[in-house]
Amino acid sequence: MQFDVFTLLPEVFPSYLNSSILKRAQENGYIQVDVHNIRDWTHDKHHVTDDTPYGGGGGMIMKPEPVFEAVEDILGNPPVCPLILMTPQGRPFSQKVADELVLHPRLGLLCGRYEGLDERIRQHLVTDEISIGDYVLTGGELPALILIDALSRLIPGVLGDENGAANDSHASGLLEGAHYTRPAEFRGWEVPAVLRSGDHGKVAQWRREGALRRTYERRPDMLEKIELSKQDRAFLERLRNSDEN
Ligand code: ADE
Repeated sequence: MQFDVFTLLPEVFPSYLNSSILKRAQENGYIQVDVHNIRDWTHDKHHVTDDTPYGGGGGMIMKPEPVFEAVEDILGNPPVCPLILMTPQGRPFSQKVADELVLHPRLGLLCGRYEGLDERIRQHLVTDEISIGDYVLTGGELPALILIDALSRLIPGVLGDENGAANDSHASGLLEGAHYTRPAEFRGWEVPAVLRSGDHGKVAQWRREGALRRTYERRPDMLEKIELSKQDRAFLERLRNSDEN
């Protein structure tokens, strides 16, 4: 999958992209991330990318010309792929949106800066708008990295273990339960015996119940949205009853 990022702060991308799993994903050809500096598409001496708003008011607005030129140069006109604007006004990002977006072989990501961008960019260039949450950051660079990260790990082969992403919190519609590693006892706290029993059936059931319990305790809203087995429902019923007593 290819990502083309359009930003005024290209320098913030390499340290994250060149670490760990995303680094390996690029080296092994699963993803390609090209970061484009919008400033490279200015033509004036001072490489101006923003200007004061029509009608007055505070703040600076990203000018349309360099953004249109950058995107058309890289993605073509008409563009070969969607162009997503990272903005707190966008549709909320989620695992479901990640599952949908990863189906595209290529995505353009436009990082807003300053107080905003000229509305014509939104109307005539951008094809989708995404928010990573109901809070406002200084720009779309971190949101773009978050989107790249969340999509990349869904591509088969990017995580070492093929099941990695399938068992994640959210992927199954449930939060993941507890995990343990050695030592079996640490400061008097023991790893649950069932995990050391070697009984795969019991371990699977313990994990399922742990995921159900954690989701019930922390995100009961998620339980409304997924299909549960008869056994799952019976377990949740027992949890509810023990809460009431
Ligand atoms: N840019 C600034 N805040 C943002 C947010 N919450 N999501 C996406 N892009 C943003």
